[in-house]
Formats: sequence, C-alpha cells, structure tokens
Amino acid sequence: MLDNRDNTTRLLEERQRHIPRGVLTAHPLVLERAQGAEVWDVDGRRYIDFVGGIGVMNVGHNHPRVVEAVTKQLGLITHAAFQVAAYPPYIELARRLNALVGDEGEYKSAFFTSGAEAVENAVKIARGFTNRQGVIAFSGAFHGRTLLGTTLTGMSAPYKQNFGPFASEVYHVPFPNPYRGVEVADSLAAIENLFATEVAPERVAAILLEPVQGDGGFLPAPAPFMQALRAICDKHGIVLICDEIQSGFGRTGTMFAFQHSGIKPDLVTVAKSLAGGLPISGVIGKAAMMEAPTPGGLGGTYGGNGLGCAAALAVLDIFEKDGLLEAGERLSKRLQAALEELAGKHAAIGEVRCTGFMCAIEIVADRGSKKPDADMAQRIIDAAREAGLLIIKCGVHRNVIRFLAPLVTSDALLEEAIGMLGQALASAKA
Ligand SMILES: Cc1ncc(COP(=O)(O)O)c(C=O)c1O
Repeated sequence: MLDNRDNTTRLLEERQRHIPRGVLTAHPLVLERAQGAEVWDVDGRRYIDFVGGIGVMNVGHNHPRVVEAVTKQLGLITHAAFQVAAYPPYIELARRLNALVGDEGEYKSAFFTSGAEAVENAVKIARGFTNRQGVIAFSGAFHGRTLLGTTLTGMSAPYKQNFGPFASEVYHVPFPNPYRGVEVADSLAAIENLFATEVAPERVAAILLEPVQGDGGFLPAPAPFMQALRAICDKHGIVLICDEIQSGFGRTGTMFAFQHSGIKPDLVTVAKSLAGGLPISGVIGKAAMMEAPTPGGLGGTYGGNGLGCAAALAVLDIFEKDGLLEAGERLSKRLQAALEELAGKHAAIGEVRCTGFMCAIEIVADRGSKKPDADMAQRIIDAAREAGLLIIKCGVHRNVIRFLAPLVTSDALLEEAIGMLGQALASAKA
C-alpha cells in the first residue's frame, strides 16, 4: 500500500514505537541537515534554530572549520583511549583551556564525554582533594541525568521523580532570584543556616553552581554572590566549582560566565559549545586539586575522544580569529532591545533576562501575581515553530522561554526571528 504521509509523520510514528517517552523530543520535528543558525527537516521545511542543540552550537551548525578539523582527525586516529596512549589534540586542548581559565601551569584539564560526567568528576576531584564528603548545590540547578547529576540537580519533576534514593551528602540552598523575591543575602543566609543546622563547613568538599542557571530559568548569579561564595570557600577550605556547561564559550559575552564577577573558581566544568556538536566534556581545575585522584581514578573509554578534541581546538581557533565575542555582544544588544519592546506590548512577559546572548523571557499569567504560565509559554513556543523559529523552555515552573542562538547568527536572521517571535506572542494570546 502506498504511504502518502509526509516523512515527518511517518518517522515520528516510528519514533513513538521504538523510543521511550522518557527521552523527550520537545518539537514534533525530524531534522535532516543544518547550517549556521538554520536547520531543515526531512520534508524540506526550514527553521531558524535558536536552540542550537541546547546551547551546543555557539559557533553555529556545521561550522566549516569544525568539519574540516574533524574530517582531518578522522583520517589520522578516531579513538585511542587516553588511558592507553596519549595523542596530540588532547594535550593541546588541555594546554589551551588551562591558559584560558588560569595561567598556564597553574591549571590542569581532564576530558570526558557528557556534561554530567564532567560534573561527576569535578565532585570526585573535590572530594579527593579535601577528603570531605558534603556538596552544596542550588535549587533550580541542572547538572545532568546520571544519578549524582540528578542528585545535584535542584528540580524535582521530571528529573528526580521516582529515581531515588539519591547520592548522599548533597545539600541544596536557594539560588538568587530577585524577580521571585530571593536576594543574594537570602541565599547567603541559607548557606550559613545550613552550616549551623545540617553540615559543618569543615565537612563540605564543594560548592557547585552555574554562574548563570540554565535549565533553572537563565538566572544570573550576581557578582557579589559569586564573590561571597569565593570568600566562603576560601575561609573554610571548600572547593568552588563553576558549571559552565551551558553558560560557557562566549554565551554570556565572555568566554566563561564566571569572568563577569572577577573571581576564579577552583574547578570549571565544560561541555556543550566546547566542541561545536561533538560529544566531549572536561574539568579544568587548579593543578593541586586536579592531581588529587591517584592514577586511574579519572577517565573513561571515550573521555577526550580525538574527534571531540580536534573539534574543540577548531572552536577555540574560531573564537580567537572570528571575533565571536564581539558578534555576540552586538546580537545580544539587539535581541534584548527587541525582547524589551515585545514586553512592552505583551503583558505575558513578566521579565526579560539577558546575560550577554543568554536571553530568556519569563511568561506569567499577570504581572501582579507573577503566577508562572507554563501553558502560555508552550503556546508561544508552538506558535513560533509554526512561524519557523525553534525555541525551548526552561525554569523550575517551565514558564521561561530561552534563546540560545548561535553567535554566528546574521543580523538579517535575527530580525527574521524577532518578527516570528512577535507573531507567535500575538497568536498565542488570541
Ligand atoms: C549547566 C549544565 N550542567 C550539566 C548538564 C548536563 O550535560 P549533559 O546533558 O551533556 O550530560 C547540562 C545540560 O543541559 C547543563 O546545562
């Protein structure tokens, strides 16, 4: 019998049949190819992509220099396992990331595959170094879907629901969110209270935070908060870990978001836009801490795979040579102004939040009550897709719409996307 359904319908039916719902697909789309800030589906429809594989595509899809570097590496060696034999791209990537975060020689790097794995290893390193167990993380945090990542994550459904018991010695305190009445002083008081009521500071190995919470709603950690955390860590010998997996690699206007606060973390976790679409993650940290685990304590078969390292080196070259930070600054100013303008027309936008080009709008039922309106957010996202723009939500109440546009988005594409978003906001209201 002739199957007259379009490719998308047919493939989504197959997807339903063979893949569990736990692996969510936010948009009913099946993509075939991508370039820069655009993607095309299996029926030839084109979308402007302001998701970028969830913050992976800061240099844009299929950047020619990433493709070239990976192709070249494919012809040399695909996989050697660094535990078995070293290879140049791993060593060179470590050298360059160490120099980016600290001064060369002062920091060391180890590579893994997923973001969650990087976070897990950062905790292992902190515990190994301090010989302590406690880890303080924040409400609204997202650190991955492994069991420790899930434990560290500060959002219940869907990430933690039914997955316990969780790893022990993890404590959560509120993250600053002035829009919802949580000031820096409240978060700091919660840490002091935690020290007094649950875990003494000398039992705490690490404080782990995203300098801009990603999945939690694009909430920036204000500079005074970062500085206060640095001081608490220094006072008590606690390791400060910045999870830059979503906020890193130019997303916020600097290479890493912690650089806005003038402090230096002890350990930094990286993944996502590190390698323009290739699966590689890492921990960059103070040398003495990175040396704490004994030989064999860190690693993983695919950790720091050669293709990922080659792609990451190309990404660093692109940042050095193509002025992506400057481009991001220009784009972020325009996007923020456009979002503010849309907020002036649509009361559903309770707040516009931008840290560099890490922008989001919080959708509320009304500005007085600030009641989160996840349904409205979803209607806007669906309408945007219909108009040709891909965006996704975040926030503990899933009522925040985030924009993770590539830093190579052209001005013309940005204007087109802003037009589509305006259309979506108008039609979602109707
Ligand atoms: C801040 C942060 N940490 C960790 C992770 C987990 O990374 P992965 O999904 O690669 O395991 C994510 C993913 O969204 C993230 O945004």
